[in-house]
Parts: sequence; C-alpha cells; structure tokens
Amino acid sequence: MIDKPIIILAIESSCDETSASVIVDGIVKSNIVAGQEVHSIYGGVVPEYASRAHQLHIVPVIHQSLSEAGVTQDQLSAIAYTKGPGLLGALLVGHSFAKGMAMGLGIPLIGVNHMQAHILAHFIDEPKPEFPFLCLTVSGGHTQLVWVKSVLEFEIIGETNDDAVGEAFDKAAKTLGLGYPGGPLVDKYAKLGNPKAYKFPIPEVEDFNFSFSGIKTAFLYFAREKGPEFIQENIADVCASVQYTLVEMLMKKLIKAAKHLNTKQIAIAGGVSANSGLRTRLQVEAQKQGWQVFIPAFEYCTDNAAMVAITAHFLYQNKQFSSLHDSPMPRLHLNS
Ligand SMILES: Nc1ncnc2c1ncn2[C@@H]1O[C@H](COP(=O)(O)OP(=O)(O)OP(=O)(O)O)[C@@H](O)[C@H]1O
Ligand SMILES: [Mg+2]
Repeated sequence: MIDKPIIILAIESSCDETSASVIVDGIVKSNIVAGQEVHSIYGGVVPEYASRAHQLHIVPVIHQSLSEAGVTQDQLSAIAYTKGPGLLGALLVGHSFAKGMAMGLGIPLIGVNHMQAHILAHFIDEPKPEFPFLCLTVSGGHTQLVWVKSVLEFEIIGETNDDAVGEAFDKAAKTLGLGYPGGPLVDKYAKLGNPKAYKFPIPEVEDFNFSFSGIKTAFLYFAREKGPEFIQENIADVCASVQYTLVEMLMKKLIKAAKHLNTKQIAIAGGVSANSGLRTRLQVEAQKQGWQVFIPAFEYCTDNAAMVAITAHFLYQNKQFSSLHDSPMPRLHLNS
C-alpha cells in the first residue's frame, strides 16, 4: 500500500504579514504573502490595524495558496498556524481561522513556534545545514545565537539584553527620516556609501549576548547634532556607517560563539538576514574561518508561511499536534 502524502496548509499572522503556504511531503508548493501598507505612515506596526488587515487578507491568501499548490481542502492532512511569539490580536486571527478549518475538516491542528520556524526555513531548499549548527537569528523582535541540535532541539547560547537588531535598523531609519520598515531602506542607501565615514561606539557586552539600546541612542544623538540637512546630503555614508556598525556587533559575537562551540556550520535566519552588508560580511568571514555558511532565500528571511509549513511538517512526522483548546502565546519562548 502506498502511504498517503502529508499535505499541510500553514498560516502565518504574527505581525504585519498575512501568509499561507501549502507543503506536500516536505516540499513547499506555494507561499503567498500579503503585506500591510497601513502602518507606513505611523513609522511602526499598529497592533489593532494589523489584526484588522489580517482579517481582510486571510481568506484570499489561503485561497490563492491552495489554488497555486493545486490542492483542495479535502486533501489536507493538517492545518498549522503560528502560535507565537507575536502580537496577540494578529496571532488570534491566524489561530481562530486554523482552528475553525481543522475542526470543520476533522484533521489535526499544529501550533508552530515562529522563532523555530525562522531557523527551520533552512530546510525548505538545498543546501541544508548538518546538525548541530550555529544559527544567528536576527529579526524585528529577536537577536539570538542558537545551537540547533535537531529539528526539534534548540539551545540559546546568547541573546539581546534589550532591543533587537531589526529594531535598531528600523529606529535608525526613523531617526534619519527614512520610511518604515527602515531596515531595507538603510540597506539600499548603504550600498552607495562609505561604511567607515562615521564611527559609532560598539558596546562591550558579556558572553555571547548583545545590546542595541545604546547604539540606537548614539544614532539619535548623531542625527540631532548633525541636523537634517547634513543627514540628507550624506545619507549614503551615514546609512553605510550605521549598517557597518550593526553588522560588526553581530559578527563579533557570532565569531566568538563559533570558536567556543568549535563549529564551522553557520546559519543566519530572520528578516535582517536579508541585509546585504551582513550577507557579504558573512561570506568574507566564511573564507577566513573555513565556515560553511547557510543563508535563506530572500522570500524565506522575513515573515512567511513556508517556514511555518516546514516546521509543521517535522512536527507532524513527530505526531506533535495541538489541542483545540490551545491559545496563541505572544511571548512564546524558543524552547516551548
Ligand atoms: N535588507 C534588510 N536590512 C536590514 N534589516 C532588514 C532588511 N530586510 C528586513 N529587515 C528587518 O527585518 C525585520 C523584520 O524581520 P521579521 O519579519 O523576521 O521580524 P518580525 O517577524 O517582525 O520579528 P520576530 O520574528 O522577532 O517576531 C525588520 O526590522 C526589518 O527592518
Ligand atoms: Mg519574524
């Protein structure tokens, strides 16, 4: 008898992207992402608007994801959703929809940890890292060094004591009068500038941990002291220097942790792994240290449901299903 394929519909709604993906036997067949323009004028995500936009987008995004994959609802083996961390109101939309579908179709529900999903995005395409590997997760809400022992075992080696590096990129962009989300804009201008034009202090932080609150303030004081005209005229050099500083802060701890763990299998994950400065710097260091470096495709760096789908595939294989009584958890820890 031929085994039935494992077909999972995954939903991601933790922040400001509504996304759905269909995965068949571990192969991603669709990954639809709807962004939310509504936040740009506020310079940051407005939680209530995010929930409302998810409600508007979720049905068309799921329809498109199923139709692009050529899969019908009755073929599905399970429904997966992002359980946390994220914004409660945003998570609730994906959770309620997934729960309703799983109940209606009489199939299992799988709650997925968003931060595990960012890391397991490496298992969507080739080449895949070998276990154990060291992953630097850099996103809008997190900065973590994670020792990944298997698809289900994660150990946090270091993390930020305060803000995330994505937030530092976004705040720097806001301070410099750029739009939101600022990370990609800083990256865009940085490509045209001199990274050594301005020097910012890199803080000393214990062990393998990070701190980005001081550097955020340093960018703010710099912008205030120089004034808007100067910033506008020198935007490329300023962005290149900001980006260089943030990337150096990440690389310093990544190199230290790789030496400590005696590993050459290095991965990056999360939205900031789309940053061209970080990608280039990582390749340079890989040459120097003899690392094998794994960088996800752009579409799997920022929030997307394909990463939720691949994580759900592993959980399904391990028969780790969720109860219909589970609730979304805005502060879900990497290991829960
Ligand atoms: N090219 C880039 N350079 C720098 N930062 C970037 C780039 N592209 C995206 N980012 C940053 O990535 C962040 C978004 O990443 P992601 O979607 O993974 O985070 P999040 O889901 O908001 O947070 P978390 O995953 O921690 O809950 C934003 O801070 C954004 O500015
Ligand atoms: Mg994310």
